[in-house]
Amino acid sequence: MKSIEFTSNEGGAILLVDQRLLPHEKKILIIKSNSELIAAIQSLAVRGAPALGVAGALGVGLIALRSEQNGWSQQQISQALVDLRSARPTAVNLAWGVDQVSPLISSGSKLVLEAAMAISQADGLANRAMSKLGAAYLLEKCGQKRLRILTHCNTGALATSQWGTALGVITELHQQGYIKEVFADETRPLLQGSRLTAWELSELGIEYRILPDGAAASALFAGLIDAVVIGADRIARNGDTANKIGSLGLAIAAQAANIPFLVIAPESTIDRSIADGSKIEIEFRADSEVTHFAGLPVAPVGAKSYNPAFDVTLSKFITAIITEKQLYHVSEGVEL
Ligand code: MRU
Repeated sequence: MKSIEFTSNEGGAILLVDQRLLPHEKKILIIKSNSELIAAIQSLAVRGAPALGVAGALGVGLIALRSEQNGWSQQQISQALVDLRSARPTAVNLAWGVDQVSPLISSGSKLVLEAAMAISQADGLANRAMSKLGAAYLLEKCGQKRLRILTHCNTGALATSQWGTALGVITELHQQGYIKEVFADETRPLLQGSRLTAWELSELGIEYRILPDGAAASALFAGLIDAVVIGADRIARNGDTANKIGSLGLAIAAQAANIPFLVIAPESTIDRSIADGSKIEIEFRADSEVTHFAGLPVAPVGAKSYNPAFDVTLSKFITAIITEKQLYHVSEGVEL
């Protein structure tokens, strides 16, 4: 499944699986302008760090195309790039995707789009490589048996260009016959776990259960879980990892329960300009995501929220970070 691609039809457009409507409806969104793309990113129609990287790169292609078609000034192009690059702050992949291809704008939209599509293709290949590494590591660490894996948020084909990162490891293990059951955290407040991960798991034919985020620690201590695998939005040089809110608590609980906690992410998610996680900007989202459920109020009128979309898991709680290139033992002080 491809969650995001470009079509030359419709005068040139980005096609996205609208992740806001899943699992009930699979609809393709046709994105024709930079402002439509930014709105899709901010409302999580497209989300997940690697998918945001591809969205950023394809978005630059769209900017280049529209500037050619409408004779934009240099200032209009620069503003469009700044707006796109900063649509969401935490996942480094969005800015990375924009930066990778924007130097090509002066060479024409065709070249920008080709480079963006190459990024998408490379992401798919990277996911397959990190999944094989992750699966081999888990079988070595936990023993050659059918594993019970807990995961958080959504890291599958929807969150990437293809295949997935943490969910890619689970898929790889499943294909090798080594998955017993997946525990998918529902992932409050926007339910990427129950809406998206559970949907992908059912499409893949993998046995799963959804649990409230608050049940994860007790599942770990009840002996129900062999390993925890998550993705990442930005990884600092020392291995501190920003990921969906709830990841930090999960990592601390996994360490206390002596259960391996793995971060699976592409090299493009490592931000080597940042020494540690304290420098990672965390996105805060609207009160209504917490005070309302499916559009209905579930809290007193005017209730405020504390709603960070991400947290930073310190490297000391991470057993290993696995990319398409290698495995990093960051808790032992390995620098990325
Ligand atoms: O707010 P979201 O849904 O974009 O958050 C996504 C996550 O936190 C994912 O776990 C992360 O981007 C890794 S996706 C392979």
